[in-house]
Amino acid sequence: MALLEVNHLKKIYTTRFGGNQVQALTDVGFTVEQGEYVAIMGESGSGKTTLLNILASLDQPTDGEVLLNGTDIASIPDRQMSAFRRENLGFVFQDFNLLDTFSLNDNIALPLVLSRKSPKEIHQRIEPIARMLGIHDLLQKFPYEVSGGQKQRAAVARALVTNPQIVLADEPTGALDSKSTDGLLHIFEEINRRGQTILMVTHSTKAASHANRVLFIKDGVVFHQLYKGDLSNEAMFQKISDALTVLATGGKNRE
Ligand SMILES: Nc1ncnc2c1ncn2[C@@H]1O[C@H](COP(=O)(O)OP(=O)(O)OP(=O)(O)O)[C@@H](O)[C@H]1O
Ligand SMILES: [Mg+2]
Repeated sequence: MALLEVNHLKKIYTTRFGGNQVQALTDVGFTVEQGEYVAIMGESGSGKTTLLNILASLDQPTDGEVLLNGTDIASIPDRQMSAFRRENLGFVFQDFNLLDTFSLNDNIALPLVLSRKSPKEIHQRIEPIARMLGIHDLLQKFPYEVSGGQKQRAAVARALVTNPQIVLADEPTGALDSKSTDGLLHIFEEINRRGQTILMVTHSTKAASHANRVLFIKDGVVFHQLYKGDLSNEAMFQKISDALTVLATGGKNRE
């Protein structure tokens, strides 16, 4: 059984006055196996954030289903939803989403505090993750006292601290300079190597070239996918660039 199974997802946004309708997703289907690192690419407005929000059950699809370990997330009662999300999913956002009035330590601890873990267990969980991410010496600092790359590493620590089934990342390198981007991609590679399943939306060919598989979304469907296999990051980068060119030109430059 796949860890994540997405079947025939459709999302139509209706504006408040019922006037305009936007079809963000037409029929999206794919699966993610335990331990995979999958990137999703697509032009701006192609529905990537919509898809992640539905996977995170922050938004409901118009049609279709999302199964996590065989459980249809739509079947989870509302009152259990935030606990389900906290226990099974880790989130990393483009703009970090850290609380400014909390230290990095308290930001990372938050999901565990909400799950009523003991202070001792919280400390024991944060310690090795903060060390692995190289932010151990920064834990008492506040977000405004650290760099963007360090904030993002704290956000990754917060995502990992609950030991989630899958990490969902929306443009995690979007606000980072190239050095911090390299650092974050290295971290994602490392945590994936240790078994963490990752699903990452990105505009960055470089970021996507680190994943094991890349899905391309266009016109509300998964249009194409590439497997990395034994390719180097450089060779995968080239393969993704070629695919993006073909997608952008509708495949006409193939011959
Ligand atoms: N809450 C909403 N209400 C109405 N339309 C929306 C809403 N959110 C997104 N849309 C529309 O749905 C489509 C998909 O948007 P989405 O944010 O998923 O794209 P995206 O692929 O994440 O784009 P980007 O790469 O710019 O982040 C767009 O046409 C967008 O305008
Ligand atoms: Mg988006």
